[in-house]
Amino acid sequence: REGCHILAIETSCDETSVSIVKDGKIVLSNLVSSQIETHKAFGGVVPEVASRKHVESITLMIEEAIQESGVALEDISAIAVTQGPGLVGALLVGIMAAKSLAFALDKPLIGTHHIAGHIYANNLTAEIQYPSMALVVSGGHTELVLLESEGQFQLIGSTRDDAVGEAYDKVARALGFPYPGGPYVDNLAMEAESAVSLPRVWLEANSYDFSLSGLKSAVLNVVNQKKMRGEEPMIGEIARGFQESVVEVLVEKAVRAVRQYGAKQLLLCGGVAVNRGLRANLTDRCEKEKIELLIPPFEYCTDNAAMIGAAAYLKWKHSQFTTLDMKAEPSLSL
Ligand code: KG4
Ligand code: ZN
Repeated sequence: REGCHILAIETSCDETSVSIVKDGKIVLSNLVSSQIETHKAFGGVVPEVASRKHVESITLMIEEAIQESGVALEDISAIAVTQGPGLVGALLVGIMAAKSLAFALDKPLIGTHHIAGHIYANNLTAEIQYPSMALVVSGGHTELVLLESEGQFQLIGSTRDDAVGEAYDKVARALGFPYPGGPYVDNLAMEAESAVSLPRVWLEANSYDFSLSGLKSAVLNVVNQKKMRGEEPMIGEIARGFQESVVEVLVEKAVRAVRQYGAKQLLLCGGVAVNRGLRANLTDRCEKEKIELLIPPFEYCTDNAAMIGAAAYLKWKHSQFTTLDMKAEPSLSL
């Protein structure tokens, strides 16, 4: 068969996902099994439980993904898998499955960076142009990454404490919502008529880093004060105040980074890229500033294997394969 068919596996956190991607662009199948319902009872992802869940579903999902794609085993060009960053036990399940397949089918193995996946999700429905600036926002990451050319990443800023999604989840919990609470806070914020005033954390004048733990503490203080005084917590106003603060800092720093590095595009990606406040604000701002903004569709924003297939394709083109002794790298850098 013509072209490159990558079988991609993603198990870095609480989603088991298997996908077949053609030429880094055409998604022939993309199965995602979320463990959220299991972890909800614990108020967050329990690493050991995540690993066990991955083990339960990975084999069947690989079979199904191949079947759904209509690609014959001998036409699979390579096996790609998330090598890191992520939960080590969770990563290992995907890596073991990928190694076994690569060995049994005698196909090359491609270890892939999870964030490279989130970024290259943009190539599934659009065309990344270089240099590009990526704003990666998820439950585990908050990063500004410069792409000077294809596959060349330069981390120019990241969070010094909580990731954006993590801060959303903690604020949501304080406001009485279950895990993962980001969408609840987003909805409340969009509907509230006013906002409590909360700080903006800019850090040093020229820094592209982020800090969210102070803002999160400020929210918790407001909630606790209200409780102590026996007053209504005003959760809408608090959610809106929190969202406005987060969004303003993310948008300002992203736009400044685009300008300073002469980026042709801004790529928004990661699970928090579905946040309505962030999307609306960034879309407006980019229109005003004449910056092209790319945002992947919802299913490629949250963790999925298609994005890993898209990123792995760049390595496949240059025959950058990984040996079978590859290890899980929980804090792999870009
Ligand atoms: O990328 P993702 O699916 O998993 C990670 O790799 O972390 O992101 C999940 C995170 C969770 O923290 C969730 O609360 C957050 O994304 N999230 C949101 C929204 N939808 C999901 N945060 C803010 N607003 C949303 N609408
Ligand atoms: Zn992710």
